[in-house]
This record gives sequence, structure tokens and C-alpha cells, in this order.
Amino acid sequence: MAPSIAESFAVEVVVPAKVNPQVSVNKPKVRRIIEEEGGKSTATYPQYLPVWDHSEKYPPLEPFTHIDHGKDADPSFKDLLPAESQIKKLTPTIGSEVTGVQLSKLTAAGKDQLALLVAQRKVVAFRDQDFADLPIQEALDFGGYFGRHHIHPTSGAPEGYPEIHLVHRNNNAWEYDEYLAAKNSSVSWHSDVTYEQQPPGTTFLYLLDGPEVGGDTIFVNQVEAYNRLSPAIKERLHGLKAVHSGFEQAENSLKRGGVDRRDPVKNEHPIVRTHPVTGEKALFVNGGFTRSIVGLKTEESDALLGFLLAHVGRGIDYQARIRWAPKTVVIWDNRVTAHSAIIDWTTGERRHLARITPQAERPFETPYVPEGDKLSA
Ligand SMILES: [Fe+2]
Repeated sequence: MAPSIAESFAVEVVVPAKVNPQVSVNKPKVRRIIEEEGGKSTATYPQYLPVWDHSEKYPPLEPFTHIDHGKDADPSFKDLLPAESQIKKLTPTIGSEVTGVQLSKLTAAGKDQLALLVAQRKVVAFRDQDFADLPIQEALDFGGYFGRHHIHPTSGAPEGYPEIHLVHRNNNAWEYDEYLAAKNSSVSWHSDVTYEQQPPGTTFLYLLDGPEVGGDTIFVNQVEAYNRLSPAIKERLHGLKAVHSGFEQAENSLKRGGVDRRDPVKNEHPIVRTHPVTGEKALFVNGGFTRSIVGLKTEESDALLGFLLAHVGRGIDYQARIRWAPKTVVIWDNRVTAHSAIIDWTTGERRHLARITPQAERPFETPYVPEGDKLSA
């Protein structure tokens, strides 16, 4: 059986665990967290508190041509990482941390290099950023350089900015117990919205409020996950596609009094995808949205998918854990990583983050290259 498929929505869907009963009974046209907090929230950035507008409905997404700016980037990173900046690796294969760079001031050349750096390092944390203090539209304009903004089908958003996806949770001991009542761990590996025909690429998440300790995010390197497989399994996976579904997320949202802003979709994507800039191959399945392998019988699909997801989940030797701090912006390449929030604090502190989610190309694969050929190439 493929693990953790049914339990993987808490990270993605930002309907809070505890819904105000008055609100859910009355089914308001617009639900605002700030009103539920009595109109004067303790949030550091109240303009970013989630709003769910039940009358909001968007048409299906149309295909578009994505040109990845990483292709144009100068690999010396001279416009992104000036002499006074510092970059250090968090682990050998995934994760870097940068200080001394102000993302909002980057030139186009610097942004191109950012796309390349993130593709290479998979996830990069930038400290001391002014991103959360910018007008929301300016933050969106910055993110829009990297691709067309995705509007999440079930997310709460800052009022008037549906392109921002919000993560919002005040975790106290009671909610923590409820959250873990039916499962052993909060770890819920997923890549964001892979049910879309063109899932996100360079993806931005920035902290607005967070617990003093806890609420980290972990990332796994899906390129390394592919690399670790035997040649026989790699070769067999090429040519296979998997079904990615947004239906369960939509159902879960409606069940909890949330919204369904766009009709859910399913898409088939190659199990091994190639990154358009680095040429690296990555395992492209995730516990959040990948449901089955096309052309296999149920038991076969469950067994193979279950193996692949367990393989990714236990790859501590190709994962990086990001500890949030005020003014941190984390950028990952959603094509070659999966991630999970860690719900482990019980203090009632607010964990509030905003995501900007540029969509990228439709996943594609390139032919299997036998190991010997790669070495001699
Ligand atoms: Fe996510």
C-alpha cells in the first residue's frame, strides 16, 4: 500500500484545524480570520491573514509556454552573490543558506541566477529579507518573473490577492493532540500542487510569524532519490507515468467548511522527469498527490509507488531541514524536491507563512542513459 496518501492534506490545505462552529454553521460568503480573532489580531502581518471567499470561482487553468530563466543565467552568480554575501551548504546534496543579499533589489540577471542556484541546490534559505514588509503586490511582481502565478484551488488568501497561498496555524496542546489522534507523525511529504498540468518550479515561502522553536520545514532531494536507485529500477521507471490528483484535497476542503475555487483536476506525469536547466533527472512522485501508476494493476501500482515513497521518506542522507527565523525567505525548486512541514509545537504560537507559486513547464522525460554510457560521455 502506498503510505500516507490519505493523511497528507494538512500541510497543503490551510483551513485551520479548529473551525469556529458558529462560522461553519452559517456558511458565510466570506470568512475572515481577523474577524474570528475579534478584529484586532496579534499577527505581525494582519494584512496576510487568510480570507476564504465562498463566491470566488476560477475557470480551468489554460496551458502556457514557460521559459525558465535559469537557462539564461551566468553560472558565476556574480549578480546574485556579491563579494559581501555569504553562502553555506546545509548538506552536500541539498540546501544552502545565504546572508548579505536583498532579494527585492536583484536585477534581472540576479533573478536568472537565483533560478539557477535554486535548481542546483534544490532549496535555499535567504535570511534578513524585506519581503514580508513589501506591499503584497510588489512581492507578487517579484515572484511573477519566474512564471505564471498559480492560484490555489482551496487556499485562504490575503484579501484581494488570490495568487498568495497562505499557511496559518496556531498550535496549542489541544489542537496538537487532535492533529495526532489518528496518526503517529506530522511528516507529510509532498511537492506542491503536482496535480496541475504545469506544476510549480521556483517556489517562494516567507515567514510572517512562527513559533520560537518548532514548525521547521524539511526538504528531500528527488534527484538524489533517483540517483540512489539501481540501474535496473531506473531503466524500468523510464516511460512510466503516474496519476496526480487534486480531488481529495478539494473534498477535504469542502468537508471542513473551506472553499473550492477551481474544479479539481487529475494529470498524468512521467515518474522520472528531467529538469530543463540542469538536465538532472528526478523522481517525480509524492505522497500528497500521486495516486497510481498508469498501466499497472492495483497491487503492482501500490507496491511500486509504496516502495518509491518509502525510499524518499527515509532518505535522511539527502534531506535538509530549514529552521525558520523572522525575515527568512525559503526558495525551492518544486520540480526536484518534496517537502513537509513539521507540526511539533504546542505553545499556541502562530505559524503564518505566505507562498508565491510560479508555475513551470509541463513535466517531461528524456531517455534512460545506462550508467556506463554516462561515465564515458
Ligand atoms: Fe507544500
